[in-house]
Amino acid sequence: MPLNDLFEQVKNSYDIVEVVSNYVKLKRVGRNFVGLCPFHSEKTPSFVVSPEKQIFKCFGCGIAGDVVTFYMKIKGISFKEALLNLAEKAGIHVDNRVFIEKKRQSELVEINYKIAKFYHHLLYFHESSEKAREYLKERGISEETIKIFLLGFAPYEGRVLSGYLRSFKEELKKGEELGVIKKGADGSYIDLFRGRIVFPIFNTKGECVGFGGRALEKDEEPKYLNTPESKIYKKSEVLYGLYQAKEFIKKENIGFLVEGYFDFLSLWEKGIRNVVATCGTALTERHVKILKKLSENWIIFYDGDLAGKKATLRAISLFLKESIFPRCVVLSEEDDPDSWVRKKGLKEKELLNELQNMSTDAISFVLSFYKKDYQINPSKTFKEMIEIFKPVEDPILKNQIVKELSFQLGLPENEIFKCFSQKTPVLKEQSLEENSEISESKEDICFKIIAQYLVNYPEDFPILEEVGLTKLLEYNNFSKYTKFLKYLIEELKKKEPKIDYVPDLEFQEILSDILLNPPFEEKEEVLEQIKRFISRELAKKELKKIAENLKIFQSQGAKEEIEKYLWLLKNSLANKRNSHINS
Ligand code: CTP
Ligand code: MN
Repeated sequence: MPLNDLFEQVKNSYDIVEVVSNYVKLKRVGRNFVGLCPFHSEKTPSFVVSPEKQIFKCFGCGIAGDVVTFYMKIKGISFKEALLNLAEKAGIHVDNRVFIEKKRQSELVEINYKIAKFYHHLLYFHESSEKAREYLKERGISEETIKIFLLGFAPYEGRVLSGYLRSFKEELKKGEELGVIKKGADGSYIDLFRGRIVFPIFNTKGECVGFGGRALEKDEEPKYLNTPESKIYKKSEVLYGLYQAKEFIKKENIGFLVEGYFDFLSLWEKGIRNVVATCGTALTERHVKILKKLSENWIIFYDGDLAGKKATLRAISLFLKESIFPRCVVLSEEDDPDSWVRKKGLKEKELLNELQNMSTDAISFVLSFYKKDYQINPSKTFKEMIEIFKPVEDPILKNQIVKELSFQLGLPENEIFKCFSQKTPVLKEQSLEENSEISESKEDICFKIIAQYLVNYPEDFPILEEVGLTKLLEYNNFSKYTKFLKYLIEELKKKEPKIDYVPDLEFQEILSDILLNPPFEEKEEVLEQIKRFISRELAKKELKKIAENLKIFQSQGAKEEIEKYLWLLKNSLANKRNSHINS
């Protein structure tokens, strides 16, 4: 039985209202049931279950899904486990082949582990590895730590790993899929890491899902290289060192969050084991949710420079959103945790004490960061500051923040409350520009509306296709809604499209969200707006592409090409004007 069929069969065997009722006291309101959300703390119910659609959604924390997702989340188990448990309880026979895809994933994990061990081996036995071992020693990393984290060495020659993988059947292709080797122009494989210290990255189950590599040579760029995302490596949910550190974090009931491999290893080396690091990507909501499961007490310990401080502000906001009130360690401008720890020369308890003494609470950190700006331009700075606290949902935490801000800034509490509830402008100000997770962009909202429209009126797909929906999506790869739309379109192109459910978890949340939104009141009007949006955006994107090409040709002095593009540009401008007139 294919996975989709099993999924469908399991869903048909249960009534979501009954399943949820085992965990949440539900009350009927109109067509739906409501109750207190089991996934976040709240006083007024915002958790809705729809018996017709067999889905749930919490309007407070945004969590949503179907019966399988609910079971998975409430039990804290994987999707596979949830599906199998529910199937078993319902007496459905499960064919093992359902999880072939899962098995492929575990094959990838195995290859990665093999690679990690291979590089680790080379650190000791390759003829040019002495320099690498010397480097690690200089940076204060002990043999024991090297072994625990399976650190490795990728030699300078470009074909060491590809040669190794070639000796196993089929593994070159998989190595390419994992991003550790790349196909060169001549079709042969070349290693991603050359002349680098290799850091295997493990997920919470201890599976090796990716790698980071630091250049051994001083001026080599980039300093760090990371393997790309793959089926098994989702950067938004993996943290460096979490596998090894998680029990320590639980035991101490507090953790340090740092931003680099060596920052992590330096602390570990000095006996601080309750630490994790982001590796090569910014902290995400997903990361914080994972951290919250281990402890509710976190200390953000980032670089002392401006970039580190800005990253701290972002992290504070993400923690607050999960109702965690973090503390922060502030270093001087030129230090990062690694350099600071080594300068201090302290260990274990003393180091811990020193760190605890140096840490401040999140509000003090924000206030001192903005202090100067606030004196110059209080109104603008206050608005920027409050953006950091806005994601807070927990009313008690919110109260505490307002009180503290009021006390520190000498502003009346009710004024601060007012600012708290003012909607963030859709197009955000520069100061938090990196902060894309916090709210949806205007474009995103439009794509969400298009998705909602197509789910409700799939028969209108050709109309949207005619104005260029697919083409527009080619320009927009990044948001979850465009990804969902692409999936939806593929489905709609099939003979018997199935859009009532989707196997992908992220898509499932989007779909349930869409299904629980009220239907459009003025369908025709919405359709017209969508059509205008698509043509306008498409014209914009095409214009931008032409302008970019023009720049390239200009720099190359290619006359004929320039003429051709000027002509295209003229045409396209005319189109754009038309689409504006139409709108
Ligand atoms: N990073 C990355 N790619 C880069 C630069 C940095 O992935 N080009 C990630 C790495 O995980 C790195 C972290 O960001 O550990 C912090 O970067 P940075 O502060 O620049 O480096 P340091 O940790 O100070 O590196 P080192 O101490 O090795 O010089
Ligand atoms: Mn450093």
